[in-house]
Amino acid sequence: VGAAAVGTGGAFGWWWASADIDTAGRVEFERRLAIPPLAPARRDAEGRKVFDLRAAPGKHRLRPGRPTATWGLNGSYLGPTLRAARGETVRVNVRNGLRETTSLHWHGMHLPARMDGGPHQPVKPGATWSPTWTIDQPAATLWYHPHPHGETARHVYRGLAGMFILDDPKTPKTGPTGGALPSRYGVDDIPVIVQDKRLDDANQLDESHPRMSEVGLLGDVICVNGTTGPHHPVTTERVRLRLLNASNARIYRFGFADDRPFALVGTDGGLLPAPYKTTRIQLSPAERAEIVVTLRPGERAVLRSFPPDLGLNLWDRRFAGGDDALDILELRAARALEPSPRLPDELAPAPALAPRTTAVDRKFELSGFTINGKSMDMRRIDFAVDLDATEVWEVTATDGTQHNFHVHDVQFQVLSVDGKPPPPELAGWKDTVHTRPGIPFRLAMRFRDHSDRDMPYMYHCHILYHEDQGLMGQFAVVEPGEKPGRPGPGKTGR
Ligand code: C2O
Ligand code: CU
Repeated sequence: VGAAAVGTGGAFGWWWASADIDTAGRVEFERRLAIPPLAPARRDAEGRKVFDLRAAPGKHRLRPGRPTATWGLNGSYLGPTLRAARGETVRVNVRNGLRETTSLHWHGMHLPARMDGGPHQPVKPGATWSPTWTIDQPAATLWYHPHPHGETARHVYRGLAGMFILDDPKTPKTGPTGGALPSRYGVDDIPVIVQDKRLDDANQLDESHPRMSEVGLLGDVICVNGTTGPHHPVTTERVRLRLLNASNARIYRFGFADDRPFALVGTDGGLLPAPYKTTRIQLSPAERAEIVVTLRPGERAVLRSFPPDLGLNLWDRRFAGGDDALDILELRAARALEPSPRLPDELAPAPALAPRTTAVDRKFELSGFTINGKSMDMRRIDFAVDLDATEVWEVTATDGTQHNFHVHDVQFQVLSVDGKPPPPELAGWKDTVHTRPGIPFRLAMRFRDHSDRDMPYMYHCHILYHEDQGLMGQFAVVEPGEKPGRPGPGKTGR
C-alpha cells in the first residue's frame, strides 16, 4: 500500500493518491520526546490533594519552523500529568483563561455526576470550577479533556488534554511470584499521548475535515506529547509506555517496525489479569493501553501504527484512515542498560461482574449521528439506572461506518463480542470500546455512588465529530424506583 499505489492512475487515481499519507520509514525522529511534567499538588486544610489547572491560548512548536497557535493547560499545549492514589480525595481548580466557555472531564473516573466535567459543567471565561471527589478505583491510566456541548472536537484538537494516572496502594509492587512493572515516571514509565494534526504551510492548525471523511478530522502529522518526529532515550532494559489515543478520529494499530513482541499489561481502567504477549494493539479515540517493551543495548525500536482493522470495505476504509501506516516514536537504547526486573506473572483480578450469558438490559444502536434514532438533547435524560445495579448493555454500530462507545462514571467488563468471549485485549476493565460495523458488543457495568436525579452522566461515540453532532445520550443513577429529574439549562453552569 501507500507510495506504490500512488500513480496507478485510472478513474480512481485522484482519490487514491489524495487519501494516502503513509509515513512508515520516512520519519527522522530528530526531536526529543517531551514528557508532560507531573502536576504539583498541595494539601488543603481538609487533607485533600489540590491541583491547579489553567486553560489558556499559547504558541507551541509542534514541528520545526513557525510555532503553532494552540491551547494548553499550564503551558502552551496539552497539560501536566495528574497523579493520585486510591483513597485520596482530590480537588482540581480548573480556571478558564480562554475567551470561550469550555469544561474539563475526567475520562474513565468514577465520581459524582456534578464533578464529571461533562456538558452540564461548563466553565465560563475567567471562571474557576473546583470539583472534588475521592479516588475509588484500581490503578489505571486515565485522562482529562474538555467536553463542552458541540465543541469538544475543536477544544481537544487545539491542545486541551492530559493524563491522569491513578495508583493503588493495595496493589503490591511485586507480583505474588516476583517481578515488577517499570514505574519510574519519565524514566522507564513513559506517557505517550498520540494525536494527528493537519498543519497548513504557516504551521497553523487546519480545522477542516479531509474530503469525504465520515469521521471528521484526520491529520497527516503525528505528534506524541505535542512533539512531531520524537525519539526517547531509553536507559533501562524494559520500558513501559502508557499509550493514549487522544486524537479526534484516527484509529491506531500500534506495534514495532521490526515486529518485536511486547507485553500488554493494562487497558483503559486498569491492569490486565496477566501480561499478554502480542505484536499489535489497536486503539480507537480515548482508549489506552499500557505496554512493556524490552530493548537490547544500543538498539533503536520504532513504534509504528499499522493500518488498523476497521471491519470496512476498501472504499470506506480509505476515508476512515484505514490504510495509513504511520511512524510514531523511536526508542533509542543507551549502550549500557540498567537491568529491569522481569514482569510479574499475575497483575490484577479479572473483571467478574456477570457471566457471559446474562440477559441484556438495554440495547444501543449507533447509526449516523444518533443512538437508537435519537440525537443528544441536553434537556432529556434518556434513562435511569438503579443505584448498585449491574446492567448488561448491548451496543451495535449499524450504519457501516466507524464508531466507538464510551460510558462515563464506570469501567465495564466486555462480556462478549459477537456472542464470543472477548479477545485478551478486551479482558480487563474498559471505558471505551471500538464497535465494528454490525457486531454486537455486550458490556457489563455496575453503577455505584448516587448521582443527582437531575445531573446525568454521558454515553457517546468518542469520535469527536460524531459526539459533537449528537451521537450521545444521558443517563442518571437513581434510588431504585425513583424517576430522574429533567436537567434544565438553569441547572447547568454553576
Ligand atoms: Cu472522553 Cu464523554 O468523554
Ligand atoms: Cu461515531
